[in-house]
Amino acid sequence: MSQKISLPRGTADILPQESFLWQNIEKKARSVLETYHYKEIRTPIFEEIGLFSRSLGESSEVVNKQLLRLASDKKDGFALRPEGTASVVRSYIENRLDKQEPLTKLFYFGPMFRGERPQKGRLRQFHQVGVEAIGENTSSPYLDAEVIALSLDLLKNLGLNDFTLKINTLGTTEDKKAFAEILKSKLQEHKKHLSDESQERLDRNVFRVLDSKNPKDQDIVKKLKIGHSYLSKESLAYYQELKGVLDGLGVAYQESDHLVRGLDYYTHTVFEISVANLGAQDAVGAGGRYNTLVSDLGGPQVDAVGFALGIERILLAREKQDDDQGKGLKVFLVALDEGCLQGVFNLLQKLRQRGVTSDMSYKSSSLKSQMRQANKLAAQHVIILGQDELAKGIVTVKNMDSGHQIESSINDIEQIIHLLE
Ligand code: HAM
Repeated sequence: MSQKISLPRGTADILPQESFLWQNIEKKARSVLETYHYKEIRTPIFEEIGLFSRSLGESSEVVNKQLLRLASDKKDGFALRPEGTASVVRSYIENRLDKQEPLTKLFYFGPMFRGERPQKGRLRQFHQVGVEAIGENTSSPYLDAEVIALSLDLLKNLGLNDFTLKINTLGTTEDKKAFAEILKSKLQEHKKHLSDESQERLDRNVFRVLDSKNPKDQDIVKKLKIGHSYLSKESLAYYQELKGVLDGLGVAYQESDHLVRGLDYYTHTVFEISVANLGAQDAVGAGGRYNTLVSDLGGPQVDAVGFALGIERILLAREKQDDDQGKGLKVFLVALDEGCLQGVFNLLQKLRQRGVTSDMSYKSSSLKSQMRQANKLAAQHVIILGQDELAKGIVTVKNMDSGHQIESSINDIEQIIHLLE
């Protein structure tokens, strides 16, 4: 026997019995996103590596360790996208979307790729639904609050009710520099006790120490009193206004001065949404403001804010729902012998062209075995056709629930469709 080929680790097949769940999620999410007046953008699933290293940061885990690079002779080749923001910004700049409207509100769905060690809720190919709102002079606590409220609305509509929203602010690029200095000096005192990796991060990108998964590092980080002394007056006022808007909306949040997020592009607002029953990988979504990314990538000076939710984690976290399972099989057509196949096939195609979900077995076999197949497929009706019926030009429509059988002329397609209702 030839050797079997298996699914790559950290990926998953979405089989027909699950794919309707994904379709429902997309359908519900799309409807919420459109209500908030966001429009869909689709970008390639691979991009130049430079796009990711310049936006997410050379020293971020995602770029440093997790980029799935495509084989190439070139030094700077391509990599599968680990997230959606960088590609959306690349496209915004390249297509001069800033010229089209003052505020561009975009959403996306799609697979993202990170070469992580797979575990529950952590995959190498996973799916995100995300939004980005980009435009000149569009920083407003109301827009930050909209993006946060939208992420929570999406989660609620997708069947999650019990989650925690954490928020923080990093301030401007200048404030972030001051923040980094404060962190460095606070962590310097504990340097000896930090993991080797975090000792190295302390010099290269101190924020990454706060994201460390090492328990020793986490213990040290937990005890740090960070506060907001690094913020300028304006940045602090912006953060306070945002909290005021969230309070006004009745959105519950926790403030966390340790929340910095693992990607370098954030400025000002950052947030993360977690769910208790997910274990170690408890973040179902995250986002924030990134007011310098577009210009850092060669575009105009515009402000931006966005988030992404992880669909696999949402599916893991939500309780069982009454999900719409899609269209069932309206009718199964049975050909009693070989000579009827053409007549049955013609009728099948006519029904399909009229929008009736229908199927057949494509070969003649005993009535019993075809009825068994119809039952297995949960067909609501069966149409049985033999030589006799074809000669007389009639079909018998059987309702599988009630067992009732009614005859109709084979040429009266309206009548047949009526009997199937
Ligand atoms: P992120 O926090 O890296 O942010 O990812 C967002 C969400 O994607 C996470 O909260 C999680 O639910 C899901 N996710 C991330 N990695 C994995 C994985 N390996 N397996 C399963 N799910 C995963 C971003 O991607 C930013 N682009 C969000 C953003 C948009 N910020 C501004 N705009």
